[in-house]
Amino acid sequence: MTTPAQARSFDAAAAVYAANRPSYPPALLDAVEELAGLRLAGSRVADVGAGTGLGTALLRARGARVTAVEPGDGMAAQLRRTLPGVPLVRGDGDRLPLRSGSCDLVTYAQAWHWTDPERSVPEARRVLRPGGALALWWNDSDATVPWVAAQDARLRHFFGAEETAAAQDGGGP
Ligand SMILES: C[S@@+](CC[C@H](N)C(=O)[O-])C[C@H]1O[C@@H](n2cnc3c(N)ncnc32)[C@H](O)[C@@H]1O
Repeated sequence: MTTPAQARSFDAAAAVYAANRPSYPPALLDAVEELAGLRLAGSRVADVGAGTGLGTALLRARGARVTAVEPGDGMAAQLRRTLPGVPLVRGDGDRLPLRSGSCDLVTYAQAWHWTDPERSVPEARRVLRPGGALALWWNDSDATVPWVAAQDARLRHFFGAEETAAAQDGGGP
């Protein structure tokens, strides 16, 4: 369960996010095209929770006609600076400010978890044309890479995840 304050927490760090957040590999967009059964070139795409525009920029580079949807003031301002030519509408995935049937594809790059699926699923269905697709993706760390595994262990230790897991194990029947 996320709170509105958590969902807006990106805004204060939008410039740092834009400077440091890694983008996504080309293979991701290849997979989107394959799984959604469409070519991005010429497709009408809503990139929801667009943030600073990492996913938006990649979709646009493939020739998609992208509209960015972003609720946060700071992230939206950063996207306007980064991608001044991209249409940006303010709103969120639970109440999409888009016409019914107006999209071939709706994407959420690391943003779907901020929505309420009871609302965001019907909203995505509403704005998609029949046969359109919803694509959701997240970065995940690859624990087979030694330095990634070591960092994950440090983070778990720092945030007390081991203690929480041990307490939960001890609390069961
Ligand atoms: C981790 S960032 C991802 C930004 C961008 N898509 C990317 O790939 O870098 C999550 C974004 O979701 C936005 N967000 C928060 N609540 C949302 C909601 N209910 N619907 C859509 N986006 C939301 C935040 O403002 C933020 O820009």
